Amino acid sequence: MEEFNGAVSHVLVSSEEIDEITTRLAAKISKDFEGKNLVLLGILKGSVPFMSDLMRKISLPAELEFMKVSSYGAGTVSSGKLNIHLDVLREGLENCDILVIEDIIDSGRTLKMVVSHLYEKGARSVKTCTLLDKPSRREVDFTPDYVGKEVPDYFVVGYGLDFDEKFRTLPYVGIPDFAFNK
Ligand code: IMP
Ligand code: MG
Repeated sequence: MEEFNGAVSHVLVSSEEIDEITTRLAAKISKDFEGKNLVLLGILKGSVPFMSDLMRKISLPAELEFMKVSSYGAGTVSSGKLNIHLDVLREGLENCDILVIEDIIDSGRTLKMVVSHLYEKGARSVKTCTLLDKPSRREVDFTPDYVGKEVPDYFVVGYGLDFDEKFRTLPYVGIPDFAFNK
């Protein structure tokens, strides 16, 4: 366990700060979605810890959905392509006010395409909430509705975020030593 944690010695967002972020965002979401049919839609797998903490602080009834996606953008296909590994498993989104929950926004391609996809499926409204945002990395025009924290252009792990499927279970967000020292 010590070795596992030791590989991420620079903490960028502590557990305490995450707690403050989820409290602040949940209060805003609870106010903004009053009277709506809130559906929290998590993007697997990275959003799991954030979504789990956030949902329990939202003081409105909400339904849960998930999608699993990957995107190939710059360098492969200029327009970007959304690969949907798991789509929303329900018929008709006409009465749904969806809040997409994501771990981090980088180029913006993934969430931009997810939002279009959900409108194509008939969603009444689609908003987005991300724990972290790296605005300096944006490649497409996309602005999330709720942001936990803007971060500089470091590769980060923990609290859902992975490097090669590792580090998702850390209770904080940190910069792995290999990314911090380079
Ligand atoms: P985008 O489509 O370029 O905005 O990419 C968003 C996705 O890239 C996120 O869902 C993450 O899976 C991944 N990602 C972007 N930056 C990081 C990072 O610093 N650490 C781990 N995953 C990241
Ligand atoms: Mg992800």
